[in-house]
Amino acid sequence: MNDSIISMITNSINSMEKTIDDLIYVKDSNTKRKLINRLKNQVSNIKLMATELQTLSSTINLQMGMDNPQRLSRTELEKYTGKDSMPAYIAVDNVIYDVSNVSAWGGATHFGLSAGQDVTAQFNSCHGGQSILQKLPIVGEVAND
Ligand code: HEM
Repeated sequence: MNDSIISMITNSINSMEKTIDDLIYVKDSNTKRKLINRLKNQVSNIKLMATELQTLSSTINLQMGMDNPQRLSRTELEKYTGKDSMPAYIAVDNVIYDVSNVSAWGGATHFGLSAGQDVTAQFNSCHGGQSILQKLPIVGEVAND
């Protein structure tokens, strides 16, 4: 859903750029007025779509029980080792999961893996295709450093 709204916003921005190009060269005041009205409509369309996107993403966050999703860089993620009273977080495909209360991740380790890491590659090679991740609470997403 988000993707289609984002592509609609991108298309609207592209057509706005074209309208601005047309406006630069137009001489006739009547055509100029028409182009300006078109630009105004394109701006309000984008505003509408941005509001829709905002509503959607807060709905999704609520549905995922993340009333306050976190964005952690990989460096910040390394602090969440599950040791020294820190929760145990891991990342798979840029999504951060809390494995603090997952018995398979007892002691914040799992088959030689430790919390605080991006374990996407290990997950794909050990559990690829399994729906294990749906059982894990989501904390937020990885922010690129
Ligand atoms: C080195 C690669 C891995 C191996 C060999 C491995 C192996 C296993 C095995 C044998 C189990 C079932 C036994 C148990 O419950 O302890 C298991 C469960 C589990 N693994 Fe892994 N695993 C690996 C990587 C990962 C990664 C990267 C994740 C990150 C999400 C993960 C998440 C889990 C979870 C959440 C369970 C519990 C599943 C359940 O409750 O149904 N594993 N793993």
